[in-house]
Amino acid sequence: MLTENIVFSAVQPSNNLTIGNYIGAIKIWVDIQNIYKCIYSIADLHAITNNYYNNLKTLSLNTLALYLACDINPETNIICLQSEIVEHSQLHWILSCFVNWNKLKHMTQFKNKYSKQGSLLNKVTVGLFTYPILMASDILLYQTNYVPVGYDQKQHLEFSRKIARNFNKKYGNIFTIPQPIIPKIGKITSLLNPIRKMSKSDINSNNYISLLDKPELVIKKINNAITDSNNPPIVKYDIKNKPGISNLLNILSVLTNISIVNLEKDLNNINYIQFKKIVSNEINNTLFKIQKKYFSIRNKEKYLNSILINGNKRAKIIARNTLNKVYRVIGIK
Ligand code: TRP
Repeated sequence: MLTENIVFSAVQPSNNLTIGNYIGAIKIWVDIQNIYKCIYSIADLHAITNNYYNNLKTLSLNTLALYLACDINPETNIICLQSEIVEHSQLHWILSCFVNWNKLKHMTQFKNKYSKQGSLLNKVTVGLFTYPILMASDILLYQTNYVPVGYDQKQHLEFSRKIARNFNKKYGNIFTIPQPIIPKIGKITSLLNPIRKMSKSDINSNNYISLLDKPELVIKKINNAITDSNNPPIVKYDIKNKPGISNLLNILSVLTNISIVNLEKDLNNINYIQFKKIVSNEINNTLFKIQKKYFSIRNKEKYLNSILINGNKRAKIIARNTLNKVYRVIGIK
């Protein structure tokens, strides 16, 4: 480890991770795991904000096994399960007493989900509304310096920074102010609607590539991905006018480590069918390695649980320490 700076990040175990999660999050976690002290959590409490499950623990173990399959090191990093560290919920309550509800109302993610579910008002939970406060608690409990997050979570991180600054203004230096690490590549988008983010909780599974999809399914999904009707076809990065092709270029660039500019040169003069074949081939190469490792560890539940028990224990020590500080300054301890 090169510095003592702390990194915190998490993914919701709402479904198996997608190629979008891999490129936008996990791959970056792997890249920085030897530089910082990293805490990678499975945000199961966030997953229940607008969904009900009867198998969330299984999904959490799937997520853990995928972290490991993608080469997250369980020995050097702390890997933990949000619900097992009660300090998250405890700090959530305290911070919620410092946040003006009017500010919370304007969070984009809430507004989007709210407007989608708005016609069924009784489906919009208070949990969905206070979701950003739980996320701030996750981050602030560990005195986090850096948070790798996708574009869609940037506003939540900004909100966490605001909460921390306000709290510090009142009570002195209690929280470290976290900074984002935003991926350099553009966000990975939905295959059939490349304007929207690729989401593992999309009801249509043709919109995403799961890290556990079989090769034939990957080929099928990429073949069906929306492109454009440029004639002649041209493989060129242009988010605005060619979002489908740009998305596939983004994926290919990250997986091959070849810059978009060079890919455009190399892929001059090929049609979209040929291009898609190259993309699905590359995805399948990556997934092959991940799935091989995943299936070799997923049924070792004792091993997986022992990683969580160990990670939770280490996380809890840091979290308790911060929570105690907070309890003291607000006068309840
Ligand atoms: N809300 C994040 C997402 O849906 C997951 C998450 C929960 C998170 N807590 C976090 C990400 C803290 C970064 C830091 O992707």
